This record gives sequence, C-alpha cells and structure tokens, in this order.
Amino acid sequence: MYPDVKHNIFESLLILSKMQYKLLAALLLVSMITFAQGNKLAATPPMGWMSWNIMSENPNEKDIREMADAMANSGMVKAGYQYIFLDDCWQGGRDNKNNIIADPRKFPSGIKALADYLHNKGMKLGIYSDAAPLTCGGYTASFNFEEQDAKTFASWGIDYLKYDYCNAPEDVETAKKRYTTIAQALRKSGRDIILGICEWGPREPWNWGAEVGGQSWRTTYDIRDKWMDIENEGGVGIYNVVDKMSGLAAFSGPGKWNDGDMLVAGLHGTKGPSAAYKGIGCTKAEYQSQMSLYSMLNSPLYASCDIRKMDDEAKNILTNEEVIALNQDVLGKQAERKIKTDSWDIFVRPLVNGDFAIAILNKSATAQNAKVNFVELGLAGKYEIRDLWQHKVIGKNNKWTGEVMAHETRVFRLKKV
Ligand code: GLA
Repeated sequence: MYPDVKHNIFESLLILSKMQYKLLAALLLVSMITFAQGNKLAATPPMGWMSWNIMSENPNEKDIREMADAMANSGMVKAGYQYIFLDDCWQGGRDNKNNIIADPRKFPSGIKALADYLHNKGMKLGIYSDAAPLTCGGYTASFNFEEQDAKTFASWGIDYLKYDYCNAPEDVETAKKRYTTIAQALRKSGRDIILGICEWGPREPWNWGAEVGGQSWRTTYDIRDKWMDIENEGGVGIYNVVDKMSGLAAFSGPGKWNDGDMLVAGLHGTKGPSAAYKGIGCTKAEYQSQMSLYSMLNSPLYASCDIRKMDDEAKNILTNEEVIALNQDVLGKQAERKIKTDSWDIFVRPLVNGDFAIAILNKSATAQNAKVNFVELGLAGKYEIRDLWQHKVIGKNNKWTGEVMAHETRVFRLKKV
C-alpha cells in the first residue's frame, strides 16, 4: 500500500530539472553569504538622508522630525532608506563635565529623544563630528574627547558617525591615527556605531580606511548640484565622482564602501552648499545617472533634497527599487568600468544570484546610438535583458543597440538564457 519512500525521493531528485538545481545552488549561496555578512557593520551600503545641503547651519529637531515623517510617507523607508544624518552645526559646546551637548535652541528635547523618535519608526540616527577641536563649520568637535564623545553618542542611541577632517594636520599618518582613535572609542562605547570617514580623498583613505576601523570613506571633495566640474573650480560634480570611484573597485566590499557623497536628485539648484561652485542644478537624465551609477559602484545612498517638498521626478529616482537592489546586493561587488571612450563609460557588476548588471553612460552632450556586444564586456552567450528604469524585459540577445540621451545611463539586469 505504501510506496517505497527511498525509491521515490531518488526518483524525484532525478526529475529536478537543471534549472531547479541552479536555483537551489543560488539560494544556498545567498543564505551562506547573508549569514556570513549578517553580523558585519554596514554589510550593505548605508542608505538615508543627510541634513547638510538644505539645512546647513540650522539642523533642528522640528525639521528633522518632519523629514523623517516624509521619508516614511514618501515610500523611501520602504525602499531601504533608514538613516537620518544630522550633519554639522548641531553642537552647543560642552557642559561643565566636558560632555558634548546639542544646541538647546535647535534641539530643545535633546538628541536622545530624536533618536527614540526615529527608532520607533524603524529608522536610525547618524551624527557628525570632526578629528580636530572644531568642525568645518567651526562647531565643537571630538579631538581629545573621543572616548567621552563616543560614550555620549552611544547613550543617545546614535547608529552612525560621520567624522570629518577640517582643522586637522594634513599628513596621512596623523589622519590614520585620529581615525583609529575614534574607531576604537566607538567600539568601546557599548553600541554598534558605523564610522564614516570624511577626509575627502587627498590622503587616499581607500588604502587604509578599513584597516583603521572605518566602514566607508568619502572619495572626493563635496559634491555640488551639477554634472561636472570642468574648470577645476573646487566643487566636484556627479561625473567627477563617478570617474574617481571607477578606479577604486578593488577597495569596496561588505563593510567597506567607497562613498561618493550625497545624491543631488531633487535639489534643482536649491540655495545652500550644493549650489556653490556653479551648482545650478542637473537634468533629469543626470540625476538619474547619479542614482544608477552610485548603485552600480556601491556608494552609500544619501538623499539630500527637502523630502517634504520632493517632486515626483526625485521620488521616482530615489525609490527605484530595482536599481536600489543592485546597490544592496549582498555580494557587494562594485561594478568595473569595462569600456571608457570619449563618449561612453560602460560598467558591469556581478550579482549574487548569478545575474549581471550593466550600465551604459553617454557622456557626450547630445543623444547617441550605442552598440554594445555583451561579449566585449566579458559576458559570453545570450541574456534576457531587463531595463531597470522602464521596469520591463526588453528582449533576449547577446547585444543591445539603442539610443542613450545626453548624460543618461541605461541600466540593465542580464539573466543568462
Ligand atoms: C565638509 C563635509 C561636508 C559637510 C560639511 C559640514 O565640507 O565634506 O559633507 O559635512 O563639512 O561643515
């Protein structure tokens, strides 16, 4: 009456198709990687919103709470944005025990209350300090108070520290020492606090950032709301950052990220730091390119526009979950630039489930036709091509030809067929 169970299992194993075996193997790999990286700080690039570009000198609890509400209501939190970063200018000096305090006019309820508010919404709080006595904005910073400040941050419930380098000595050895000191202080604080190194690139922090205990490091000076700086004016644009980060793929991986600075989508030339050095705003294609390329290149994703008033264009760019999935892919392999010509940059990144993502950027000032043979990118055979901005499969092929607008990036997910 009962069939031979052993025999049946054997038979069903045999009839599992090759496809199903591949799927099982991929699932196993994903679970192994997720397990191995699960405990790492910043196992995938952190995502959030930073106060600097629109609040600069005046971050305050009322606006920050409104921003957190807007992040939740706009779908950004669902899309993966988790952190609110209080950038410079929140500080109010030190009390009579030398504990760092927030400016009571800006934060009458205190920073802990703000952290609680965010944690209750499933969000996290980042804060800012500097490796010198004063920050870039001239506010109280943490040099010589590292352990005390780290303990204070932990007691407030801080989840991330952006640690700047204004007013500190220029040499690389001192920088390494100062970042080591704060990293150790954070580790001793009793709370998991991510360390974001922000020395802007001159001391090549990708060479030593992970070793001293950082989870990310800025690769350039501050980004402005523009495509490119061509006059060496001092303010970098989107493409300057992308170009710089393209050479740094080897340094990026789970728990150690090259940081391209804030996303500028939605700013449209808004007054403030991002408008300096002719930051007059970008086209939709350019804002979209930044999102696509930062996702390919594993940059942390920090929105910086006023989310309370964000237009649909910015919202669609910032919450494209198919593009974000590249950024958050647990394999954490930064894209490699496989082709660089005057007009084109073409990037490829492998994904944990065996797919590949490719990004095709037209750098020229006019629309151009692209002809991309996948084999030239190291991808032999035929693929199902899914357009991650159109959200649909556009064909099965071993190549793609089509139009790319000026400064636009087409992003495809390729699945082997
Ligand atoms: C530096 C950083 C910016 C911002 C400001 C604040 O310029 O690079 O991202 O934090 O300081 O003063």
